[in-house]
Amino acid sequence: MPRSAVAIALPHAELVAVSSQLTEAGYEAIEVKTADELEVLLSTRRDIGVAILDGENDFDRTIEMYGLLHDEGRNIPALMVVAARALDRMGMAGRARVSDEYFTRPYSAESLRWRVEAMLIRAEVPTDDAVHGGMIEEPGAPEISEEDRHGQIVIVFNPKGGVGKTTIAVNVAAMLQIRKSQRVLLVDCDTVTGHVASSLGMENVRTVADAWTEDLTTGAGETFAEIAAHHESGIAVLVMAESPLHTEILEPKRVAEAITVARQAFDWVVVDMHPDYGPLNQVIFERADKIIVPVTPDVPAIRAAVQLREVAVELEIRDRLAMVVNRANSGVSVADMERTVGMPALAEVRSAGMLFVRAANEGRSAVERFPKEKVIDDIELLADRMIATRDPGAAKTGSGFMGIFGGGRNTNPSVRAS
Ligand SMILES: Nc1ncnc2c1ncn2[C@@H]1O[C@H](COP(=O)(O)OP(=O)(O)O)[C@@H](O)[C@H]1O
Ligand SMILES: [Mg+2]
Repeated sequence: MPRSAVAIALPHAELVAVSSQLTEAGYEAIEVKTADELEVLLSTRRDIGVAILDGENDFDRTIEMYGLLHDEGRNIPALMVVAARALDRMGMAGRARVSDEYFTRPYSAESLRWRVEAMLIRAEVPTDDAVHGGMIEEPGAPEISEEDRHGQIVIVFNPKGGVGKTTIAVNVAAMLQIRKSQRVLLVDCDTVTGHVASSLGMENVRTVADAWTEDLTTGAGETFAEIAAHHESGIAVLVMAESPLHTEILEPKRVAEAITVARQAFDWVVVDMHPDYGPLNQVIFERADKIIVPVTPDVPAIRAAVQLREVAVELEIRDRLAMVVNRANSGVSVADMERTVGMPALAEVRSAGMLFVRAANEGRSAVERFPKEKVIDDIELLADRMIATRDPGAAKTGSGFMGIFGGGRNTNPSVRAS
């Protein structure tokens, strides 16, 4: 029995692909060609849980349809295709959290199905079957547990260099993968000074920039899970780019979208970031479930963390910040650091002399190379706290569509400057 119905206004080929995925997942897919058709549908059916709209090809029609979703007391979330550029602009504009979601072409029908599923769960559409039962209860459906859909995106960030971002990202990833049996994707988003792969002894890995450049001719549309290289520890390692030049192909929203999709294949997506507040980092902040902020006990690092806290207030992500006091055995109290920085500490990592450097020089994580060292106990405690405080399922949505594009059914669809 269908759990919920999805109205779809997409070009024919996409409609066919998306409908077949949704039908397989147990949803009823209903094509709507015009706003009038949608209006009739909404007035006769109460079980439309999501509408998939095309905000790229037929903008006027989409505006009208979008208005209908909110007419007459309705509040039906839209999943909307938008041009990559528009999505980028939306990320920069109002940061209201609404239940609408956005995606860009090219996309896979399968990834769309996951998005719809997640949206319906969040909207808690009243249906005959429990939506939370999910696909696993459907005979013949693939065995994918609830958790698989909600891998956590954890970014490691501090706008100051040298505080331990890469060290913590690599070793927490190794800890989660090796000792906690978690599936981990470790992403090197530092396109300038990134050295995640080399510190794990991986040379000449195929990068996202490589794959997406090839994709322009092949149309392969590989996911991050497919592009990632495999480290002997089991971690999947993904490098954005080898060279800081020619990174235009790494369109920020597309990167953020691909990271979000990767949550379906991994329990944890750990992202090592370049220390800046540029467009790429901003969209990734928005998607992060947790932002781990390594802070060493020195004035420049503390100052940088205070600045980050202030930026985070403005970006409305302050509640995701968690400090890790790094090189913590130099006589400062964690409580003092918490007070000064204004961030709760998740854990502390002691100073480990040359241990991290030696492990990296040998191309391994310290978790593998020095498993019995005390600093690895610190890393383990950090990983345990991450697991204990993981957000059970909150997917992050994009910013408000109408906040940028203007009002309801009969309003001017021109893009508002923002
Ligand atoms: N707890 C620690 N004990 C000893 N050395 C550390 C510790 N944390 C980081 N380091 C070292 O400090 C240097 C900078 O760390 P890194 O992780 O590259 O910082 P970031 O990514 O923030 O620039 C590296 O050589 C690393 O091995
Ligand atoms: Mg680094």
